[in-house]
Amino acid sequence: MNTRIAIIGAGPSGLLLGQLLRNAGIDNVIIERQTPDYVLGRIRAGVLEQGTVDLMREAGVSARMDREGLVHEGIDMIYGGTRVHVDLKRLSGGKTVLVYGQTEMTRDLMEARGIDGPDIVYAAEDVTLHDLESTQPYVTFRKDGVDVRLDCDYIAGCDGYHGVSRKSIPTARLQTFERTYPFGWLGLLADTPPVNHELIYAHHPRGFVLCSQRSATRSRYYLQVPLTEQVQNWSDDRFWDELGRRLPADIASALVTGPALEKSIAPLRSFVVEPIQHGRLFLLGDAAHIVPPTGAKGLNLAASDVNTLYRIMLGVYEQGRDDLVERYSAIALKRIWKAERFSWFMTSLLHEFPDSDAFSRRMQETDFRYFTESDAGLRTIAENYVGLPYAFPA
Ligand code: APR
Ligand code: PHB
Repeated sequence: MNTRIAIIGAGPSGLLLGQLLRNAGIDNVIIERQTPDYVLGRIRAGVLEQGTVDLMREAGVSARMDREGLVHEGIDMIYGGTRVHVDLKRLSGGKTVLVYGQTEMTRDLMEARGIDGPDIVYAAEDVTLHDLESTQPYVTFRKDGVDVRLDCDYIAGCDGYHGVSRKSIPTARLQTFERTYPFGWLGLLADTPPVNHELIYAHHPRGFVLCSQRSATRSRYYLQVPLTEQVQNWSDDRFWDELGRRLPADIASALVTGPALEKSIAPLRSFVVEPIQHGRLFLLGDAAHIVPPTGAKGLNLAASDVNTLYRIMLGVYEQGRDDLVERYSAIALKRIWKAERFSWFMTSLLHEFPDSDAFSRRMQETDFRYFTESDAGLRTIAENYVGLPYAFPA
């Protein structure tokens, strides 16, 4: 088999890149280790920046998203019982975000691609990348017991944090930047109306809380829990009870509880490698970086990597701009680091840190007041939350 771009991984990064390239007439094949059902079974984030929405539209897969997505013009932030409304639209000069589940976005992209087309392979085993430093890289894998070789011009590593792509780069070539946090998020999804029409990010001495949603009838809530916590220790009742204790009384009394459709714990981590290209391999999305979810940036950052690589590939195949290829890593990393900073900032601002002393507590409280008591402070939160401008064209 041969193609122009071999895409490793059919998560949102791989599927979105594949769809954009396909529409532009640039041949690509997606190779995914899991089955379609497995990919769709993962519950992930749900806030799309305008840039991500625009890419879905450009990819021609936005019909359901435009119909069902909820435009949010603000968020609420709470600290020490003080509730601040962050008017994203006013503060960012008219921008908003769209609440639409990553799972739904993945489903739309998957359906557009087709699940058994000749250019997408699910349940591929032993995916291996070869000759990345040559001009003729290739990928091998096994499908239904048959060994397959896929020759290509470039490889897009969209296979997430645990994928094979980043591991195919010699470790001596990569610098790793990492921060782990001493807590995780326990998430619960329920078919109950959300407690508020907008998202609420709240600090509480018992730990951080996020009140999110997927639709007018489906809520998503998160509680900060110690890393040692086990999901089986959390009955639905215990979850709802703890959520209520961490919210101001007026919000807690408006909570509509119900059975959990899903409950899971995810650790929080900041992670970046540099550079995010090696020879003819590019890393995108979670393969290249992880952010803690407090700024809703994970999926959106994956989309901005897709934007960068897609525009570079358009330059290469439509204008012969081969010079752009080596610039992918530098262009993408500029925006990646800003999203890492915002995600770290929101995490530091709103979580309870087990080792914090009296001085760090005052600093955290003062940061909250400093950023929320002036338009200048609120504006920096708003412009990051709705998404900084794309770095390409540079
Ligand atoms: N070969 C082929 N595919 C692989 C391999 C491999 N060796 N390893 C992993 N994969 C697949 C996974 O099964 C998964 O479907 O790559 C895909 C990676 O998808 P994601 O982990 O969703 O990563 P990405 O597409 O970059 O999405 C960005 O944003 O909200 C965040 O973390 C969240 O997944 C989200 C991410
Ligand atoms: C979610 O709805 O899952 C969600 C929303 C906002 C975040 C993180 C997760 O910051």
